[in-house]
Amino acid sequence: MDYNEFFLESKIPESEIERQRYFIKCAAQIVAKKSQEANRKLTYCVTTFGCQMNARDSEKICGILDEMGFVPIEDENADFVLYNTCTVRENANNKVYGRLGYLHSLKKKNPYMMIGLCGCMMQEPDEIETIKNKYKFVDLVFGTHNIFKFAELFTRSLVSDSMIIDIWKDTDQIVEDLPVHRKYPFKSGINIMFGCNNFCSYCIVPYVRGRERSRNPKDIIREIEKLVDDGVVEVMLLGQNVNSYGKNLEDPITFAQLLQEVEKIEGLKRIRFMTSHPKDLSDELIDVMANSNKICKHLHLPLQSGSSKLLKDMNRHYTKEQYLELANKIRNRIPDMAITTDIIVGYPGETEEDFLDTLDVVEQIQYDSAFTFIYSKRTGTPAAKRDDQIPEDVVKDRFDRLLSRVQDISHEKAKAYEGKDVEILVEEVNSHDDSLMTGRMSNNSTVHFPGDKSMIGSIVKVHLNECKGFYYMGELI
Ligand code: SAH
Ligand code: SF4
Ligand code: F3S
Repeated sequence: MDYNEFFLESKIPESEIERQRYFIKCAAQIVAKKSQEANRKLTYCVTTFGCQMNARDSEKICGILDEMGFVPIEDENADFVLYNTCTVRENANNKVYGRLGYLHSLKKKNPYMMIGLCGCMMQEPDEIETIKNKYKFVDLVFGTHNIFKFAELFTRSLVSDSMIIDIWKDTDQIVEDLPVHRKYPFKSGINIMFGCNNFCSYCIVPYVRGRERSRNPKDIIREIEKLVDDGVVEVMLLGQNVNSYGKNLEDPITFAQLLQEVEKIEGLKRIRFMTSHPKDLSDELIDVMANSNKICKHLHLPLQSGSSKLLKDMNRHYTKEQYLELANKIRNRIPDMAITTDIIVGYPGETEEDFLDTLDVVEQIQYDSAFTFIYSKRTGTPAAKRDDQIPEDVVKDRFDRLLSRVQDISHEKAKAYEGKDVEILVEEVNSHDDSLMTGRMSNNSTVHFPGDKSMIGSIVKVHLNECKGFYYMGELI
């Protein structure tokens, strides 16, 4: 069957958004035809491997697939399976290759099946070579800079027998108003900026996500207003370093100012954001957080290391003392603010003394929770070139010591809330017991309580009966 008849090159509109809408329509016709042939609806499954930004990209892709007439399913035995990859640590990449083998076996049994790969890992030329050579059954490969072209690339892939690969090095284009399929009806991530300019010495993100670009505040507000009209009560503003938001806009605006605008949106109840780089966290932002009724009591403030020597080498632009001062300033001003963090163990050249500095910050700050990572060497980053990489057994020992301290502290912190009455946003039916509902406190902790489905998306008050380590059992009051 020649599906090319469904789109005519001469008819392709010029404006990017119209162009993509045109391809969505073309794909919808092809999908309808294929469904007819197969005598069933065609299905898709999009799997996200990375961070919230990656997840938001997946929602955009799902929105387009929905409009094309595909039906979403959770199972990878689907007619279109897309892996939205992450490459921040080596094990993220390994997972993808492991699972591709399984997809191949499914594809052999389903003549309609197409496999796509996108996301950060695809921005690495070596990975593309591997896919071209060893994973020839993949149909479509694209990167992080041309997601807005998904409709077009997918349509071309629908009518092509060979692998379609389209990777851009960078872009300054931001295409607004493409369809989005939200995972939750009542909460949503919103990109406020893309890319990163910080080049922390260990990190691959700036290489795979490109230079920092802020979205126009008007577009952000308009998007949130539309979401609120559609039932959203909580938004998570997303960027690799939200504190530098707006600096490069034609009419510069600070992140704190943006937050104040978002706060004004009627009907919106909760505002979260990710991630705050300590080097750019302003007093203005602390003021705005302290005076806000909507900004959640949760600040993710990645430490990475407690050693000033390592922090300098990591290109983080703050010292141990500056970090402590900042965290204390926030705690003093907003005592119920939960502070969470990311820590890397085993960065090249890390001595026992450096590690003890990290433990010292952990002791002093008493994080509500912390993500701890073993340093992973990322090709192309400055840290990867160093010859003082730390032996595995030393790293493992430090990692275990850190993790145990971090967990003990977060248990103690969580325990302190036992017996309190708190507001939670009800998110879903408990996955183990359907008489329970699961919700989140302002500080991001999880609470399970007896309730029913009708509460999903509403904010209710619960009494925290018991702390079970990382979560609470509660009851409605
Ligand atoms: N932009 C965010 C971080 C995004 S990546 C920030 O600066 O805070 C999320 C976390 O992954 C980082 O905070 C860091 O702790 C971890 N990470 C990044 N590169 C890593 C690497 N090469 N090895 C181990 N962990 C890494
Ligand atoms: Fe990576 Fe640093 Fe940018 Fe975060 S701020 S994404 S750790 S380079
Ligand atoms: Fe991973 Fe890319 Fe996010 S590398 S952490 S998915 S920005």
